[in-house]
Amino acid sequence: MSPASVLIVGASRGLGRALAEHYVSLQSRVFATVRSPLKPDQQFKGRIQVIEGIDCSQSDVGKRIVDGLKGETVEIVVIVAGLLKPEEFGKSSFEDEVSMYKICAIAPVLIVEDLATSSSLSPNAKILLLTSEAGSVTLRTQGEGGGMYGHHGSKAAGNMVGKLLSLDLKDRGVPVAMIHVRLLRLFVYRTRRESLSLVTLTEEFM
Ligand SMILES: NC(=O)c1ccc[n+]([C@@H]2O[C@H](COP(=O)([O-])OP(=O)(O)OC[C@H]3O[C@@H](n4cnc5c(N)ncnc54)[C@H](OP(=O)(O)O)[C@@H]3O)[C@@H](O)[C@H]2O)c1
Repeated sequence: MSPASVLIVGASRGLGRALAEHYVSLQSRVFATVRSPLKPDQQFKGRIQVIEGIDCSQSDVGKRIVDGLKGETVEIVVIVAGLLKPEEFGKSSFEDEVSMYKICAIAPVLIVEDLATSSSLSPNAKILLLTSEAGSVTLRTQGEGGGMYGHHGSKAAGNMVGKLLSLDLKDRGVPVAMIHVRLLRLFVYRTRRESLSLVTLTEEFM
């Protein structure tokens, strides 16, 4: 059965956009957050309620999303927004690392807290964080090498805060899952079909 309502955080492009258009095609009510207003050639297919001005690097991100929902509740929440800035040993960047940690590991906490405390979650709500196997310590090997500190570190932190949120929301019956999608960047063309691997995962989760 299709979820009644879905909130996608970070839906301007990529997986977030594909998910928003997928759910609206299933007749779910979809709220899609973006940072900047979409240009005419970026408009969504289908009737999606766009919440503009949602920047995951800002401390009021959760409050802005709650305000944008205007009292509506959501059943499925997918936090997709992410940032990957490459780094190598000797050339790490403080600013880039702070940005990655804010978006991938701090924003999910603020968003989920504000949704839960403002009663914006449906009784049967489920929360999905698009983290990554990049956040796994044991999967980092000598062969793969080091570097990419902010990327791997912020995804590891994202996996950790997701686990902690799941403990805090357990009594409310709200599951929190961290999801890895296969490495879509290996493909030159990111088609809607590739994004469907995530859609399948979320459907299994529901
Ligand atoms: N693609 C892969 O191979 C892969 C693999 C594993 C995990 N993932 C994870 O899956 C998620 C989506 O990946 P993707 O490939 O679809 O990414 P993408 O195409 O780079 O899209 C990133 C999305 O995040 C938004 N975003 C970036 N900074 C933001 C901020 N400060 N506030 C709010 N939104 C912000 C972007 O919005 P703007 O348009 O405003 O920049 C965009 O909608 C990411 O978290 C990524 O780490 C992806």
